[in-house]
Amino acid sequence: MSLFNDLLSSDQTLFIDENILDFDYIPDSVKNRDYEMRRIADSIKPMFFDKKPTNIFITGKPGIGKTLTVKFILNDLKETSNEVIPCYINNWKCSTYHSVFVELSKFFGVPFPRKGVSTDEIVRNIIKKIEGKKGIVIIFDEIDKAKDMDFIYPLVEGLGRKIEIILISNYSDFLKKIDSRLISRLNIENLDFKEYNYEQISDILSERVKYAFYPNVFEEEALNEAVDYCFENKDLRLGISLLLKSGRIAASEASKKIKKEHVLSAIGTLRKSIKSDLAKDLEDHERAMLDLLKNHNGIITGELYELFIASNKDVSLRTFRKYLNRLETLEFIKTEDTGQGFRGKSRKIFLRQ
Ligand SMILES: Nc1ncnc2c1ncn2[C@@H]1O[C@H](COP(=O)(O)OP(=O)(O)OP(=O)(O)O)[C@@H](O)[C@H]1O
Ligand SMILES: [Mg+2]
Repeated sequence: MSLFNDLLSSDQTLFIDENILDFDYIPDSVKNRDYEMRRIADSIKPMFFDKKPTNIFITGKPGIGKTLTVKFILNDLKETSNEVIPCYINNWKCSTYHSVFVELSKFFGVPFPRKGVSTDEIVRNIIKKIEGKKGIVIIFDEIDKAKDMDFIYPLVEGLGRKIEIILISNYSDFLKKIDSRLISRLNIENLDFKEYNYEQISDILSERVKYAFYPNVFEEEALNEAVDYCFENKDLRLGISLLLKSGRIAASEASKKIKKEHVLSAIGTLRKSIKSDLAKDLEDHERAMLDLLKNHNGIITGELYELFIASNKDVSLRTFRKYLNRLETLEFIKTEDTGQGFRGKSRKIFLRQ
């Protein structure tokens, strides 16, 4: 008997289409972002009348629809007209000046100079390519991951009012940190995406459930649990991932419905995977502290500090406390008051699973 025998019978009764729960999936409509979509669309419109568009800086916490909203508008723009060309670049993938121009050359189908980066030549070729068009909109998503933003100068210099730049970042103060010359050159407007409230999250997740699963298989109580979890964490990516995992768990049990218990067990696996993702970003010192705790679970702060500086001599007590706080915020550890020590500040530290 094949290990895959149960494949066809089980999840076919639950999922209509799993792809609807992909992070990159673009739904038919973007709910609860009407204001933001209007602002972005309005910023582009002047181009159609040969006027200067407005550059935009989009900020907001992770997983609240910034990328989706912009991509949705770009698709809409492509379908409506070929006068203004949208181009999407992710600076996490293209973080250097060179890689941005390689990407632009590919996108516009213009040759990339073999020796050195002759940016002027690329920009000139892009201008030639868009002759007869109204202009281009370039989105630089996750702009804070770019090594620097020098690639913007030749673009705005070369293309003038035929280019709109949209920058996206999680950090609202990101622009303050960059070259003020560039800011004044760009004359950029801010668009801050607010977090979704409970009803909005419920609305968005219900919609996904409606298209991803057969009618009535996702129990209401189970969906409420998923919405609660998503609301607590404020990140829709987690909510959507939870729907998918819950469905898969239910399918693996050959259940005909997705129940609250499936969502709860999916939350368990999600927590673990989030933690292992976070663990990749821990600093060496933080990791060293967790290693020490494995053998000294429940140790008092001062004692852990002594052990810690035995191998990391250059770390001050203050920095050590900073690491502790971060590990606690990220839920790798929990601490308990002992009521003892200096001003009763001594705490016991425990590893969390
Ligand atoms: N209003 C919405 N309607 C439907 N799906 C949404 C909505 N907002 C967000 N999503 C979905 O939630 C997930 C996260 O959204 P998105 O990738 O746009 O977040 P983001 O704000 O760009 O996050 P980050 O800052 O981490 O890049 C995506 O799968 C997206 O499709
Ligand atoms: Mg994004």
